[in-house]
Amino acid sequence: MEFNLTLYLVSFITLLFIIVFIHRKKAATTRKRQPPAPPGWPVFGNLFNLGTMPHRTVAGLATRYGPVVRLKLGSVNTVAILTAKAATELFKNHDLTFMERTITETSKSHDYDKSSLALAPYGMYWRVLRKICTVEMLVAKRINESSIVRRQCVDKMLDWIETESNSAGPESGVHVAKFVFLASFNLLGNLMLSRNLANPDSKLGSEFFDAMLGLMEWGGHPNISDLYPWLKRFDLQGLRRKMDRDVGKAIDIAKGWVDERVEKRLNEAAQRGGERRKDFLDVLLDYEGTGKDEPEKLSEKDITIFILEIFLAGSETTSSTVEWALTELLRCPEKMVRAKDELASVVGPNKKLDESLIDSLPYLQAIIKETLRLHAPIPFLVPRKALHDTNFMGYHIPKDTQLFVNAWAIGRDPECWENPNSFEPERFLGSKVDYKGQHFELIPFGAGRRMCVGVPLAQRVLHLVLGSLLHEFDWELEAHVKPEALDMRDKMGIVVRKLEPLKAIPKKVKY
Ligand code: HEM
Repeated sequence: MEFNLTLYLVSFITLLFIIVFIHRKKAATTRKRQPPAPPGWPVFGNLFNLGTMPHRTVAGLATRYGPVVRLKLGSVNTVAILTAKAATELFKNHDLTFMERTITETSKSHDYDKSSLALAPYGMYWRVLRKICTVEMLVAKRINESSIVRRQCVDKMLDWIETESNSAGPESGVHVAKFVFLASFNLLGNLMLSRNLANPDSKLGSEFFDAMLGLMEWGGHPNISDLYPWLKRFDLQGLRRKMDRDVGKAIDIAKGWVDERVEKRLNEAAQRGGERRKDFLDVLLDYEGTGKDEPEKLSEKDITIFILEIFLAGSETTSSTVEWALTELLRCPEKMVRAKDELASVVGPNKKLDESLIDSLPYLQAIIKETLRLHAPIPFLVPRKALHDTNFMGYHIPKDTQLFVNAWAIGRDPECWENPNSFEPERFLGSKVDYKGQHFELIPFGAGRRMCVGVPLAQRVLHLVLGSLLHEFDWELEAHVKPEALDMRDKMGIVVRKLEPLKAIPKKVKY
């Protein structure tokens, strides 16, 4: 009897141990379960799997590995989000965990990252700059006040295109994106600094323009120093050196403009007069914080970097989107005709497109949405990183893991989009889906707290520029280019753009 009881107790305790052991092991493995990953190479990880168009290659991994994929890029742990469902989970429940950005080696040039809004850690400085943008600069009232400036910049662009086309001859196309880029640059120059920077007579303007082109070039190159931080002191590709040179130049020029303005404001104050339209630089100089949990003033360095950042954020993104929209329309002539008909009936012959009419142009709006769905200019968004260890959709994501949200893949997610690869603006007619961060299947501007602050301005500019190009010109391809054979490849930089720039022939519309 006694023996049976002992046996019973021993068996019971053993069973208990086994249950506890299995349970803990299971909990531990669930807790540590990492997202699936394609096989990689020692030291290099998945670097060689990415190819020249990583957003496309990584999108393709969803079929085999699912919506959340782990990649090892050199020594950097990375996770990519590939479907709208996973993006919804991210932005709804984990946005705070992934609030910070990956800081690249080139972005540290002249301490750019320390004054940047897009790269700022989640904290006071980021909140202050973001508030200035959303409450003071990029609000409807101030954007409306500057509509005349935008119209002038667009008119100038139309003139440039006409002149270039006249000198190239009726059979030759013009490089459309180049002119849209110049116009966007000019437009931002006017909003920020009340200056026409793309003016051939402005030597400083063109030096600034060249330095900014350099920034975009070096900042967009994959850099070995980011993949193997222990190699950074060798700067093997010379990217940091080139970035130091161009950021230094851009800062010097922009600082000169800030100083000039400070002096001008002092003179204006002394003379107590001179009502000027306030531009973004005035807003930055006027900023007054409490000094308690926010700075009393913004430093000159912060203001200068902010100026560079707005040019970086707003110029190439805009020109790439307009170039893709025109390319897609040239491949689908019936959609081009529909867009032009809409403009003709809403704007009217011999009249210019006014921003106030954008709301009455649903087909034009649908074209912009469809273009951004298929050709998100920043396909991985601005990469984020995990602030701490977290559990995401059952996977363990360690602190500091880099996060790519693949907006390009999400825009083609077959669970959300019918015929995901074809250009069909009609899908947006009568649909409530837009890119303002509430519909996670369409996130070319990102979503959550770190979403693009420039949406209200970008939206105006994209519609105004594309609408004007379509309303003022009939567009054709050069005789030897067939619409179905148009090159649709893209190339990676800070912004993804067409590999082969679009050349198209503009014919001034005669009403
Ligand atoms: C077609 C035009 C544009 C596109 C596609 C675009 C896209 C983006 C994307 C994807 C992000 C990262 C969002 C995220 O991480 O969730 C971003 C951030 C940002 N964008 Fe834009 N952008 C455009 C135009 C502009 C313009 C015109 C401005 C300024 C006037 C601007 C200013 C910024 C800034 C400051 C950030 C950083 C926000 C932060 O980190 O808190 N963008 N943009």
